[in-house]
Amino acid sequence: MKTLIIVAHPDLENSRVNKAWINELKKHPDLYTVHDLYGTYPNWQFDVAREQALIEAHDKVVLQFPVFWFNCPPLLKKWLDDVFVYGWAYGSKSGYKMRGRKLALAVSAGVREYDYSPQGRYQYRLEDILRPFEITANYVGADYQPFFALYGFEDEPGQDYQFNQPALSAVPRII
Ligand SMILES: Cc1cc2nc3c(=O)[nH]c(=O)nc-3n(C[C@H](O)[C@H](O)[C@H](O)COP(=O)(O)O)c2cc1C
Repeated sequence: MKTLIIVAHPDLENSRVNKAWINELKKHPDLYTVHDLYGTYPNWQFDVAREQALIEAHDKVVLQFPVFWFNCPPLLKKWLDDVFVYGWAYGSKSGYKMRGRKLALAVSAGVREYDYSPQGRYQYRLEDILRPFEITANYVGADYQPFFALYGFEDEPGQDYQFNQPALSAVPRII
């Protein structure tokens, strides 16, 4: 079964990391379904039944996003609120549709990995910041996987980053 990649980036056109990941993933349509939330829902009104059906057709789900203000972009939070509802994701016998599905995150961060360490600028590890996703996965019975992160891609105009190709192509292998 294919892996569903839920992409939440408010400005994909000007993205380097997430756009590169999508391009990489789209080379393997037999393995991945790439679903761009901001592109599909410019008015932020989800077709919830469609989103749930999409998940039900995949046993592995990756949430892919850039870290914004130590969190996910807001449309992904709304997607969780709207799609992971009572009776589908939890709370009734017919619910728990996430149960047993693998769930992983693929995130890009502007700052260096060292900054996300007890000695670094932010003191907390990215793992700590992403904990709400882990707890949510546990709550709905999903099988939470270690996240994949690419650090150090702060947006500095004029600066041309050399992509670490092995790191970028590692995304398809996270689950
Ligand atoms: C509004 C905003 C908030 C951001 N907040 C964070 C942050 O909290 N932590 C961090 O590491 N990077 C932060 N960044 C940097 C982005 O995560 C980084 O530019 C992005 O992951 C690069 O991926 P992209 O090339 O796909 O856009 C922020 C960027 C923006 C525009």
